[in-house]
Order: sequence, then C-alpha cells, then structure tokens
Amino acid sequence: MTGNTAAWIPREYAQLEVGPAPYPTPGPDQIVVRGHAVAVNPLDWVLQVAGPVAYRWLTYPTVLGSDVAGEVVEVGSAVTRFAVGDRVLGHAVGSDKDSNSAAEGTFQQYSVVLERMASPIPDSMSYESASVLPLAVSTAASALFQDDLLGLRHPTATPERTGEVVLVWGGSTSVGSNAVQLAVAAGYDVVSTASPRNFDHVRALGASQVFDYTSPTVVADLIAALAGRTVVGAIAFGATALPACVQVVAASTGRKFVVAASTPVSFEGLGEPDRPRFALPRTVLRLGAKTVAQQLQARRAGVTTKFVFGTSLKHNEVSTAVYRDFLPAALAEGRYVATPEPLVVGTGLECLQEAMDVQRRGVSARKVVVTLP
Ligand SMILES: NC(=O)c1ccc[n+]([C@@H]2O[C@H](COP(=O)([O-])OP(=O)(O)OC[C@H]3O[C@@H](n4cnc5c(N)ncnc54)[C@H](OP(=O)(O)O)[C@@H]3O)[C@@H](O)[C@H]2O)c1
Repeated sequence: MTGNTAAWIPREYAQLEVGPAPYPTPGPDQIVVRGHAVAVNPLDWVLQVAGPVAYRWLTYPTVLGSDVAGEVVEVGSAVTRFAVGDRVLGHAVGSDKDSNSAAEGTFQQYSVVLERMASPIPDSMSYESASVLPLAVSTAASALFQDDLLGLRHPTATPERTGEVVLVWGGSTSVGSNAVQLAVAAGYDVVSTASPRNFDHVRALGASQVFDYTSPTVVADLIAALAGRTVVGAIAFGATALPACVQVVAASTGRKFVVAASTPVSFEGLGEPDRPRFALPRTVLRLGAKTVAQQLQARRAGVTTKFVFGTSLKHNEVSTAVYRDFLPAALAEGRYVATPEPLVVGTGLECLQEAMDVQRRGVSARKVVVTLP
C-alpha cells in the first residue's frame, strides 16, 4: 500500500505539523497528483489565523493548500484527459464547504484534484514554475469570465481585439498578473496599477498602461487615461482598492461593475504571536463596518460590486474553457507565462509553515513555493 505524508493543521489556529496521512482515493472526476512543488496563497494563512471565522465548516485535523504541480499517479473512472505519468498543474478545493476534505489539500505528498481544474504542463516548464498558476488563474478567470461577474469573452489563441478596456487594480499581485494575461488573451486592452518597480513586469504581461497605486493622483490619472474608452469593468486587488476602482468606473464610459478580490481589512497581523487579545473579533467587526461603508459608496456612485470566490469556476463552464481549452496549448506555445516568478523557500513539507509566514509578511511580484522531494 502507498504511504502518504501531510503537513497537517491539527486544530483551529495551530501551526502545521508533518505526519502520516491516508493515501487518497479519487472520485470519478478526480485525479491523484504526486506533488513535486506547491505554492502558498494568502488563503492558506488566512485559514490558519481566522479559519473558524472565515471558513466555519472546516473540520480538523485538515490539510491546507490549493496549488500543486506534479505527476498524475491515479485517475478516477470518468477521467479522459489525463493518464498516469502526465505532468500537470492543479487547483485543489479541499477547503470549500462542499468538499471540506483533507485529501483535497495540496500540502501533502499525494493530493486529489478535479479533472476540470487541472492542465497538462510542457516538459520545458519546471514544477516550481507551474505551481504558481492554479489558484491565481482560477480566481482571475472567475472574475473575468463568469456571467455573474464581468462575463467577458473567453481567451483564445487568436483573440479578436475588442477595443474595450479592463482595469486590473494590482497587476503585480499573483492573481492580478494572471488577470492581465487572461484579459489580453480574451481580446481586451488592460490598464493596471502596481508599484513603479513592477511597471515593466505588468507591461510585459500585456498591460498597455500601468499607474502607481500609491500616487495621490492615481484615481484622477486613471480617469484621464480612460477618457474616450469603453471600460468593461474592473477587478480590485488590495484592501484599499475597491473604493478607488468604484470612483474610476463611475467616472468612465462603460459597464459600472467592480469585482472585489480582497477583503477591505487585512488579516495579516493576526498571524503574529504577540497579537493583542480580541484582535480577531476586532478585525471581524472592522471588516463588517468597512464592507457596509464600501457598499454604500458604490451604490451612491451607481456601481455594482461583487466579491469573487476563486473556486467558483468549478461549478461552471469557465473551468473547462480555461484549464482544458486555453491553458494547455497557451503554455506549450509560450503564449501564456507562469507568473509571478517562484520564490522557492525550501524543500519538504516541513518548510510549509515558514512558507506561509513569508507569504503573510508580504511579497512583491513573487509567489512563495516549496519543492517536494
Ligand atoms: N477572492 C478570492 O478567491 C481570492 C483568491 C486569491 C487571492 N485573493 C486576494 O487577492 C489579493 C491578491 O492575492 P495574491 O495572492 O495575488 O497576492 P500577492 O501576490 O501576495 O500580493 C502581493 C502584491 O500585492 C500588491 N499590493 C499590495 N497592496 C496593494 C494595493 N493597495 N493595490 C494594488 N496592489 C497592491 C503588491 O504590489 P507591488 O509590489 O507592486 O506594490 C504585491 O506585488 C489578496 O488580497 C488575496 O487575499 C482573493
């Protein structure tokens, strides 16, 4: 029998502990992936510092982690796109309410991924590079292409230029970098924001103009840049991004819709060992108050806002449009790049707690990655 090892979160708020885990059995539409690299997302440490509030349904012990790149070792009975030995990337969804499954966390040797949330990767691409993509691609694709969000045209190999513009606020974030690439591959012009040190990075991904989000004139600068253009909506990354995006789309011609990816209050301070007592309930109260204030601002401005859940595409055609119909060929032909660059913090499941702490303290245009031996 094959053994398995996981970096478990043994109970609410606990640090990760490496130990034995059951080898998972795939459902009919799932594959088992032997992970060779996993990436860390803000969701991982948010679940650690605020899981019982943010994801109340999670049962412990469980295994965190959404991003994996590795080798297929087993396929479910209905799987047709993959075979044992294939090199793949996959977005695992174990923390979703309808999964709540340790087997679908990627911080272990063998994890389970839905067939429709996985893509083959080219031989030339390292597992570390491939691991940066899945959750970021899923979140960006959900925001851009789902009918209940921006509902844009899907990406293709030969996109027809629409002449319309998407605003991606935070183009140097991991998800934002993928939103820029996906929107361009769908035929849209992208205007974005980032720190000046990342302007070239965001332009290289296809954005036509990039603005400094820390500039006091950024909203006015964006409104001026978008004058005479048709804006099809915005995606807001960063705790303070939503109100700014609302102002920009309210003053521009086009669809008055902003997709929020970030909560208006960050949970990052909750991970510090010396955090004040009652820090979590205080953060939750501030979050509620800010959410209401931002919704009122948007309503007054005539702008619709909606939060994106990066796993929502698993329920609709966007998952296959991206993971099956677009990404495999785009990666193989070099039309889509694995971005941002991996920041490999170590080898082995034992490194994952440190990796989550590194991601929580902040990165700039890099994705925290751990290699699995
Ligand atoms: N709703 C969902 O399902 C979902 C899924 C994934 C992520 N998220 C959220 O989306 C956000 C991005 O996640 P990620 O993993 O892509 O993050 P990340 O790569 O760790 O974000 C780091 C980047 O954030 C940028 N940044 C910081 N503050 C900003 C601001 N006010 N405006 C614009 N950019 C800012 C920095 O840009 P510079 O270095 O250029 O300054 C840095 O490159 C996070 O808030 C995360 O929680 C949500």
